[in-house]
Amino acid sequence: MNPAATSVRRQLQTPPVPASQFPFNPGSLLSIMDLGLAALSRLLSRATALESMDPLLRDRLLAKRRVALLFYESSTRTRTSFELAAKGLGADTTLVSSLSSSIEKGESLKDTGLTLRALGAEAIILRHASSGAAWLLESETRLPVLNAGDGMHEHPTQALLDLRTILAHLRPGIEAIDAETLAGVTVSIVGDILHSRVARSNMLLLPRLGARVLLCGPKELLPELAAGPGVIIERDFEQALRQSQAVMMLRIQAERLAGTQLDLDEYKASYQLTGQRLAAHAPLAVVLHPGPIIRGLELTAGVADGPQSAILEQVKNGVAIRMAVVERALTAAEQGGRA
Ligand code: CP
Repeated sequence: MNPAATSVRRQLQTPPVPASQFPFNPGSLLSIMDLGLAALSRLLSRATALESMDPLLRDRLLAKRRVALLFYESSTRTRTSFELAAKGLGADTTLVSSLSSSIEKGESLKDTGLTLRALGAEAIILRHASSGAAWLLESETRLPVLNAGDGMHEHPTQALLDLRTILAHLRPGIEAIDAETLAGVTVSIVGDILHSRVARSNMLLLPRLGARVLLCGPKELLPELAAGPGVIIERDFEQALRQSQAVMMLRIQAERLAGTQLDLDEYKASYQLTGQRLAAHAPLAVVLHPGPIIRGLELTAGVADGPQSAILEQVKNGVAIRMAVVERALTAAEQGGRA
């Protein structure tokens, strides 16, 4: 038989690669890649509109709708801001955390999700130590699932609030975003990239708006493989600072460091953001940090509290962004599909 014909036949017989089935639910936000530029732009505008709305009117938007917060890992910012966001839209919220629920008795993620759905939850906000947990929960419950951080994988709402903060500083007054919005902007992400879901979501988001992302850290926390489209590794922190309009410092995630050899004194000498480094190499850059910050390790107290720090603005932006995301979760299906 003609080998070329056999090859063509084989190709024709090969089943096509199926399109991603995720997210199942149009209201879900599992990955920052679930949002195209138009949807990102709509969410940012909606966050601004909801933030400035009369709270008594806002309170009626999701009146008595039910939102469950399911947290298997500790959280201050994400949990509180999601809860305030949902309540600010009039929704009822309930918190299930791994330490005070039947999860302690061995109940699985699937069964916990199905139980919440049976109790009337219309959306679930999930933080979990395992990468991919949000995808599993969505596929089992088919409810809108909002990924509030899954292991070392993604933290999409953090990337959204980081973007809102960066735009407020570098593109004030901008009304809509596109693929050129951050052209000419370099954002350095510094520290424990390996374990950071925040870094991952930002690396997937910022280059789509035209930004250049520099990843900076020692080999133990930043493997060579981390680079990708629009993302470059720069091991020299001061070189990275000199190129940056925004610097995102990351905490060293001690809870995920098992087996990693890291000399903290050497780390601080090379990668700590001090007032002296900032003044010498990036005196105009905005300083970001997803929190929690460890003063005296990845950055000094003077930098955290200093005039270039936008850390508490990020926290505040979390409520506005999460209002828009929770509203989308509960209304996307009614509005006829994926945003
Ligand atoms: N940025 C962030 O996820 O903080 P929390 O762990 O406090 O939610």
